[in-house]
Amino acid sequence: MKYFYQMNAIDQLRIIFLDHLKNRIEEKQPAGLYDPVHYILQLGGKRLRPLLTLMSAQMYGAPVKEALDAGLAVEVFHNFTLLHDDIMDAADLRRGQETVHKKWNINTGILSGDVMLIMAYRLLESYDKDQFNQLTKIFSRTALEVCEGQQYDVDFETRDDVSISEYLLMIQLKTSVLVGCALQMGAIIAGVGKEEQELIYNYGIHLGLAFQLMDDYLDAFGDPETFGKEVGGDIRENKKTYLYLKSIEDEHCATELKEWFALDHEKMNEDQIEEKKEIVKVFFEESGGAAATLDAIKSYTDKALSSIDQLSISEEYKKELRDFSIDLMGRVS
Ligand code: IPE
Ligand code: IPE
Ligand code: MG
Ligand code: MG
Ligand code: MG
Repeated sequence: MKYFYQMNAIDQLRIIFLDHLKNRIEEKQPAGLYDPVHYILQLGGKRLRPLLTLMSAQMYGAPVKEALDAGLAVEVFHNFTLLHDDIMDAADLRRGQETVHKKWNINTGILSGDVMLIMAYRLLESYDKDQFNQLTKIFSRTALEVCEGQQYDVDFETRDDVSISEYLLMIQLKTSVLVGCALQMGAIIAGVGKEEQELIYNYGIHLGLAFQLMDDYLDAFGDPETFGKEVGGDIRENKKTYLYLKSIEDEHCATELKEWFALDHEKMNEDQIEEKKEIVKVFFEESGGAAATLDAIKSYTDKALSSIDQLSISEEYKKELRDFSIDLMGRVS
């Protein structure tokens, strides 16, 4: 029996985007600088952010092709942040393959990352003056905020008094603002007004919060076969995630969890790190922290879904966006 795979609208946009990426990012010299750029960009990934840029442009009536460079700029920027993030998080695995600094070295991760940030800006040069101004304005603000979020994330590793609201601000900065930015850029390309731009941006903020909460959850409880990153990497690095912060609200687990999260992974061997991961995960479940994280994911996803209602787009597109948001929370990688 033959099965015919029905391609949905999102799959089609992904194919258009990947084709654009292939054509637009040229092979260049020196190879030591550009090979890692091609490596990371071809490694796969969900392409969440560029898809949102394309969807947003399309929903507001712009031809998809006009949004391709902006979507690519966002994806190249995102991958730049991953190169540097993997150095900062001492992560060896990304999308099931070696991270750039592991495959090459740290200096390569730094400079190839830097060049990607510049490439991202140059992709915006294809827009006319007015659009360029609007796009670079939101892009620069976002890039700055991502750096702020990343710094908080690192600061929190060695703090033992991080609050839930500080955590939420941190993930809004490191993750949500880029999701919002991706959507707003599509709206700018379609020429919609500021108020509508803000509404779609806000949808992105809620979606991004749910997305990062899910990332934190999967970091501990994801399937190593599909997750593509080191399961338990956040535990190794003492990341003060929602999972952790909710778990230490339970006083029976708090003392021991805090002790585990005061250990320096550089002074531990692999067996000790594995033991820490296993024990911490039991605490995450027994404390109710894991369940509370799933509840928070649900609640931010619901907020994202209700912010779709306010958008001035067709019912059909609202449904597409809702389905996309729900599918994203069922992700395994
Ligand atoms: C990873 O982003 C960094 C986070 C903000 C969690 P993604 O989960 O979108 O990574 P890829 O691009 O799909 O690999
Ligand atoms: C990533 O947060 C945020 C940015 C890269 C800006 P994480 O450190 O949780 O992302 P992963 O888990 O390494 O993809
Ligand atoms: Mg990381
Ligand atoms: Mg990180
Ligand atoms: Mg993570």
